[in-house]
Amino acid sequence: MKAIVYEKYGSSDVLQLKEVEKPTPKENEVLIKVHAASLNAGDWHALRGTPFLQRLESGFPRPNIQILGADAAGIVEAVGANVTGFQPGDEVYADLYWCGFGAFAEYVCIPEKAAALKPANISFEEAAAVPQAAFTALHAIRDQGKVQAGQKVLINGASGGVGTFAVQIAQYFGADVTGVCSTRNVEIVRSIGADRVIDYTQEDFTQNGQCYDLIIDIAANHSLADLKRVLSDQGICVVVGFSTLVHMLGVTLLGPWMSRNGSKKLGMLMPKEDETDLNVMKEILETGKVVSVIDRQYAFTEIPEAIRYLEEGHARGKIVITMKNIN
Ligand SMILES: NC(=O)c1ccc[n+]([C@@H]2O[C@H](COP(=O)([O-])OP(=O)(O)OC[C@H]3O[C@@H](n4cnc5c(N)ncnc54)[C@H](OP(=O)(O)O)[C@@H]3O)[C@@H](O)[C@H]2O)c1
Repeated sequence: MKAIVYEKYGSSDVLQLKEVEKPTPKENEVLIKVHAASLNAGDWHALRGTPFLQRLESGFPRPNIQILGADAAGIVEAVGANVTGFQPGDEVYADLYWCGFGAFAEYVCIPEKAAALKPANISFEEAAAVPQAAFTALHAIRDQGKVQAGQKVLINGASGGVGTFAVQIAQYFGADVTGVCSTRNVEIVRSIGADRVIDYTQEDFTQNGQCYDLIIDIAANHSLADLKRVLSDQGICVVVGFSTLVHMLGVTLLGPWMSRNGSKKLGMLMPKEDETDLNVMKEILETGKVVSVIDRQYAFTEIPEAIRYLEEGHARGKIVITMKNIN
C-alpha cells in the first residue's frame, strides 16, 4: 500500500511517499481502508519532535512511528477473530491518537475500541475532521470546564480546528458564547453560532471589562494573570493551546498555584483517552447542531504541503486529506 512515511525528525521535507506492507488485523483489530484523514497540531509536533519533550513520547533519537495521522474515516475491510462490533463494509471514523497514529496511508489496523460507525449524515471528509479537534473541545468544555446552560463562555482562538468545534459544542450545551478571532474570520465564527465575536485585531478581551464563567484559551497568547482577572467568581479557565514549552510548563505549574485561594480555577487541558467520545460525537453530529468546518481539502500526495499550511497557524477550521484520487 502507499503511505506517507517519515524516518527522522524534521520539516515536511522529510516526508516521503512510499510503498509499505499492507497491515493484517490482530484478534481485536479492524483493518480500515482510509477514505479521508485530517491534520492536527499533534502531527507536526511529532514530525518535528518539538517541543523537545515530545521525543519522550515519539521516540529518541528517531521517531518510533513512521506514519502520522491521528484522525481517519473509511470502510472496514477485514476484522480480527475477536472483533464483535464491526463487519467488513461498515463505514467508520476513528481516533488513532492512542494507538500509534497511521492515518496517512491507504490502510490502517486499529483496535476495535478506536473506531465507531460514521455519523450517517456526513461525508468521510467531514467525519475525518472530527476526532482530535472535537474531543479536545469536548473535554475542555464539558469535562474540565464543567459548562452549565446559560453560562458565559469565551473561546479564544475560535476560528481554528479546535475553536470551530469549541464554539459549536459550547452552544450545544446551552452556553452564551463569545468567540475571539481575527477580522477575516468574524463571519465564519458568527455563522457557526457565536452569540458575540471579538476581533482580536481591534479589541483585547482581557481589557474590555467583561467577565466569563468559562474561558477556553486555544490561542494561548495571554498571561494567566490576565485570564484570571476576567473570570467570574467560580469561573474556570482551561488552557488548550501552547506557544512554547515554557508556556505549557508555566500554565501546568502556575495554574494550580493560582487556583489555590479563592473560587477561580485555571489549568492546562490534559489529554485523556475516553472510549465513549466517538459515539458521543456521533450522536451530536447526527443532530446537525455541530458540523465540521473544513478550510482546505488536499490530495493524499499533498500531505507535506497540507502540514506546511497548518503550521502557519491560521487555518480556518480543519485541514482534510481526501483519498479520492487513490481509491
Ligand atoms: N488540534 C488538536 O486536536 C489539539 C489538541 C490539543 C491541543 N491543541 C493545541 O491547540 C492549539 C490550536 O490548535 P488548532 O488545531 O485549533 O490550531 P489551528 O487549526 O492551526 O488554528 C489556529 C487558529 O488560531 C487563531 N489565532 C492565531 N492567533 C490568534 C490570536 N492572537 N487570538 C485568537 N486566535 C488566534 C488563528 O486565526 P487567525 O488566522 O484569525 O489568526 C487560527 O484560526 C495548538 O497549540 C495545539 O497544539 C490542539
